[in-house]
Amino acid sequence: MAENYIKSKIIDSEVAQHLGFADAVADIHRKNGASPKYFIQTFGCQQNEADSERLGGMCVAMGYEKTLTPEEADLILVNTCAVREHAEKKALSIIGQYKHIKDRNPALIIGVGGCMVTQEARADKLKKSYPYVSFTFDTGAAYKVPRLVLGALRGEKRSFILSDEWKINEGLPISRESGHMAWLSIMYGCNNFCSYCIVPYVRGRERSRSAEAIIEEAKQLIAGGAKDITLLGQNVNSYNGGDGVDIAELMHRICALDGDFRLRFMTSHPKDASDRLIEAMATEEKIVKHFHLPIQSGSDRILKEMNRKYDTAAYLEKIAKLKVAVPDVSITSDIIVGFPGETEEDFLGTLDIMEKVRYDMVFSFIYSPRNGTPAAKMDCQIPHEVSAERMSRLLALQDKISNERNERFLCRTMRVLAEDVSKNDPNMLTGRGDGVRPIHFAADRSVIGQFVDLKIKSVSTYSFEGEII
Ligand code: 5AD
Ligand code: SF4
Repeated sequence: MAENYIKSKIIDSEVAQHLGFADAVADIHRKNGASPKYFIQTFGCQQNEADSERLGGMCVAMGYEKTLTPEEADLILVNTCAVREHAEKKALSIIGQYKHIKDRNPALIIGVGGCMVTQEARADKLKKSYPYVSFTFDTGAAYKVPRLVLGALRGEKRSFILSDEWKINEGLPISRESGHMAWLSIMYGCNNFCSYCIVPYVRGRERSRSAEAIIEEAKQLIAGGAKDITLLGQNVNSYNGGDGVDIAELMHRICALDGDFRLRFMTSHPKDASDRLIEAMATEEKIVKHFHLPIQSGSDRILKEMNRKYDTAAYLEKIAKLKVAVPDVSITSDIIVGFPGETEEDFLGTLDIMEKVRYDMVFSFIYSPRNGTPAAKMDCQIPHEVSAERMSRLLALQDKISNERNERFLCRTMRVLAEDVSKNDPNMLTGRGDGVRPIHFAADRSVIGQFVDLKIKSVSTYSFEGEII
């Protein structure tokens, strides 16, 4: 059994039925005396990473063991993203490469799920041009994977599900990547229809899990050693758990649970970021002082075209409140460069708001037209060279601001969760404390998963170095 395999206590009836199919798959493997392996390839955001942990949970329920090598797998699941064209191209290219593995192992089952194949044209393309893919499933149908795998094992017809079902599907088992850091999905979908964004079309309308189910999962996580929990949703500020439980109340209730852990949340829409949420961050010690509040553009005209439902003045007002309530807060943002019709003046507005807010970090993206969204049909699409040139100016400005913001951490002592071995140096560990930058430090691997006290020795643009005290 996988180390971080968690079964839920609250299970919807349809999910229970499909877990029955998982048992049937496990039975087949047991009768064959097989010890099959699964491999999951994930693209995209944290929501997809959390979904993949649920897919992994179902694979374990079906009797598969995890492998990190696709060549060794008997079942490959690809969890795709559709938010920009680049992510779709990467997924199609990887799926193309899996053909060679299937040629060598004809019994291999390949399934593709997630946002890309929730678009009919993409599911069709896989059906027609990738005959070795056994099935696809949309984001609302992931719980049906055991039935799809059972069908593939029995040699049934290939299946391409586009169910348009937008439910919660409470009770899927989860195979977590980490014991000490955890995603906790609190809601799914989005109602905002920003004009550039494909998410509402591929993840359906907003639906919130019950506070009871979330608290139950949080308790399980903490009992299992979780020290860093991130509440996830496309727009967590509109969480509505019924009986007046909003995101602030939910976080108060989680913070009241016993245990030494810290709590994060993402993503927030500025129009819904409430005073109550800011107050929760100011008063609850367990909430990490980091607010991800995507502005997208610093031009009021473009914000209107984006259908963001706030202007720069309202945004700056929220930021001002946040800075007063939580003086050491780290603020981060998403910004799109080259939205249709963006003029040099609009772009200068974006640079201007970056100077005013002084973000700790910015995730910036060149606008990518998405079929079916209003912005894809707008006149004045911006040539790539123009967007790329603006992007390089934006990155240079943000590097300068990041360097200035990072200075405040120099010589500070902070409590850091030792997350993992550093990717760049196997003798170092990496973790996060105050702020959003990873901190590298020398320590024995046995402290991974624990909090350590560090003094920050040096800061650079993208990371810090610390020393255990
Ligand atoms: N092109 C570029 N970036 C996009 N995002 C969403 N849709 C697009 C698109 N069509 C960005 C937004 C969002 C982040 C997750 O991805 O900035 O906040
Ligand atoms: Fe996309 Fe806007 Fe919803 Fe975020 S809030 S997922 S950008 S539509």
